[in-house]
Amino acid sequence: MLLALGGCEGGRQGAAAGPVGVERIERGRVLLAQYQCGSCHAIPGVADARGRQAGALDGFGRRSYIAGRLPNELPLLAAWIADPHALVPTTTMPSMGASADDALAMAAYLHALQ
Ligand code: HEC
Repeated sequence: MLLALGGCEGGRQGAAAGPVGVERIERGRVLLAQYQCGSCHAIPGVADARGRQAGALDGFGRRSYIAGRLPNELPLLAAWIADPHALVPTTTMPSMGASADDALAMAAYLHALQ
C-alpha cells in the first residue's frame, strides 16, 4: 500500500500535495486523537475513536467522495478537515479549529486507510 518504502527519496521535495511521508501519517494519527474526531467517528488505529454520531472512516483512502460530494483528493480532504463549512455550508460537521498543517497530517492518515 501507500507505506511502501525505498527508492523514492528523489520525490520528497514536493509541495503540500506531493508524496506523503510516513512521519506525517503517524503525526496525523496522534492529531486525530488529540482533536477528538473519534467522539463522532470510528477511525481504525486511533485511540478512543469509536463515535457513532457520524460515519466510520475506515477504508477512507479507497473512497471516491468526501461527504458524498467532494472528490476525495488530499488537498481537498485537508481543507474539509480544517473548515468543512467553507466547502459545504450546510454540513453538520463542526469546524474543529485545526491548522492547515494539522489538517493535512490528519488527511494523510485517513488516505492511508485502505
Ligand atoms: C460533532 C461530531 C463530529 C466531529 C467531532 C467530527 N466530525 Fe467529521 N463529520 C461529522 C458529520 C456529521 C459528518 C457528515 C457531514 C456531511 O455529510 O455533510 C462528518 C464528515 C466527515 C468526513 C467525510 C466522511 C464521509 O463519509 O465522506 C470526514 C473525512 C471527517 N468528517 C473527518 C473528521 C475529522 C478529521 C475530525 C476531527 C478533526 C472530525 N471529522 C470531527 C461529524 C463530526
